[in-house]
Amino acid sequence: MRKAVIAGNWKMHMTCAEANEYMAIFLPLVAQMEKDRSLVIAPPFTAISSVAQITQSSAVQLASQNVHWEDKGAFTAEVSPVMLLEHDVRYAIVGHSEPRKYFSESDEQINRRAKSAQTHGLIPIVCVGETDIQRDRGEAERVIRRQVEQGLEDLDSESLIVAYEPIWAIGTGKTCESSEANRICGLIRKWIGKSDVIIQYGGSVKPENIDELMGMNDIDGVLVGGASLDPRNFARIVNYKVA
Ligand code: 13P
Repeated sequence: MRKAVIAGNWKMHMTCAEANEYMAIFLPLVAQMEKDRSLVIAPPFTAISSVAQITQSSAVQLASQNVHWEDKGAFTAEVSPVMLLEHDVRYAIVGHSEPRKYFSESDEQINRRAKSAQTHGLIPIVCVGETDIQRDRGEAERVIRRQVEQGLEDLDSESLIVAYEPIWAIGTGKTCESSEANRICGLIRKWIGKSDVIIQYGGSVKPENIDELMGMNDIDGVLVGGASLDPRNFARIVNYKVA
């Protein structure tokens, strides 16, 4: 039985003061969260330590928004897995479409980051997904398959989350139809060849579509951007109900 993982990716939002205000509203709303799911938040690096302290006795688990493959060294602007472990971080998002697009992250780099996460006991959340142009050209499956094959090479599927995030659905309000998101998540599971790997959907997830998405067989959770910045909206997503 795969446990659902509901994750909020705060991206480059939230000062420590804002995170404090957020948690004062959010934590009481998720205090009765069902035990069949995990709740993960990925704050910006500067807020990790304060969020770790405020959420200490709650169900919130922490993710980082990146991780480097070396433990330390001359890698300006990078973060080491050892530094993350010091703050009880459990997951690391890698391969998000934003660093792929703005910083030309390659599948090879993403694979090194994910391997480093696993070596240190962090669970990588590896993001994959196609652009609208690739989808229109009928290339979506080929692109995602390549990202899966190269990005996940030699990873341990028992300590892994894959997030299917179609780029055209990120921050646009255009959600992928839940049946189509489910179909792609199912294909990713087939390509990986392990039935127990956790596969999330991400891209304009909101209170209005969470129940339907989580009702799909192959969608084991969500990776939420914009809607995770509002504590009430994100609490509604965390407390999703499947009919
Ligand atoms: P939105 O939920 O804002 O579309 O962002 C999705 C995302 O990129 C999560 O990593």
